[in-house]
Amino acid sequence: MSTLLEFRDVSVVYGASHALQDVSLTVGEGQIVSLLGGNASGKSTTMKTILGLVRPAAGSVWYDGQDITAWSTPRRIAAGIASVPEARRVFPDMTVEDNLLTGAHTRRDREIRRTLSEIYEFFPRLDERRRQRAGSMSGGEQQMLAFGRALMSRPRLICMDEPTMGLAPIVVERVLEHIARINAELGVSVLVVEQNAELALSVAQRGYVLRTGHIAIAGTASELLAHPAVREAYLGQASDPDADPLALAERIARDAQELDEAAAAGGDTADERKGE
Ligand SMILES: Nc1ncnc2c1ncn2[C@@H]1O[C@H](COP(=O)(O)OP(=O)(O)O)[C@@H](O)[C@H]1O
Ligand SMILES: [Mg+2]
Repeated sequence: MSTLLEFRDVSVVYGASHALQDVSLTVGEGQIVSLLGGNASGKSTTMKTILGLVRPAAGSVWYDGQDITAWSTPRRIAAGIASVPEARRVFPDMTVEDNLLTGAHTRRDREIRRTLSEIYEFFPRLDERRRQRAGSMSGGEQQMLAFGRALMSRPRLICMDEPTMGLAPIVVERVLEHIARINAELGVSVLVVEQNAELALSVAQRGYVLRTGHIAIAGTASELLAHPAVREAYLGQASDPDADPLALAERIARDAQELDEAAAAGGDTADERKGE
């Protein structure tokens, strides 16, 4: 398997503090790789470094055989790197379709409409809701929209920063199914930051554990799942301290409503897919 993304001894410094120290990692073409680690261990910094939003103080970032360390963010996106930032961040007052179109802003070609219909085919729920205000959708649907927006740039690699944060457990499973489908059906490689190690490693082939800015453990998904330190660290995981409890409660209520609707319609996304 060829390497799509590689960090070679990357260090990132914010002021006087080291956020990443000599981090080396790879994402193979076609792989799902999971990035685990506690709060402030450097997971988001890793994602931002891939996107070029943060510059390494030392080391290099390689993509598709090229040293991209000095590349701008737009150049990276044009080359096939996309991101799903933390906390979904869809534009709540824009429609689903307008949100999707913002994902194509680096593309100049006339294929944007075609990509849009491909995404509607891939996520029929977004098609049904294309005129709906994004902010009025459930958490699971907003995450689907964030994935759709990332897919609009026709990426080869998507970096996902905690895509399941604040979602009800049943919706979390569905989001992970979407990640697996994006990988298997569209051939997109995925680097995913996820708090739930067990779930993340159930869809990933490999994983890394960051601890205070350095790679503490690396291995295949089954090696990590069996690792005592991973098992210990991911029992009783703390929730996101920055989460707004009211917004969270609203999202959970909408998730519950979505699940009720799905049950009333007599199916879930898995069933919809079989019927296609
Ligand atoms: N813009 C910034 N300025 C200064 N320090 C930062 C900044 N962003 C992150 N940090 C620090 O860098 C470390 C890693 O942060 P981050 O990558 O966000 O961790 P994680 O995503 O694993 O929670 C933390 O100690 C955090 O406080
Ligand atoms: Mg983070």
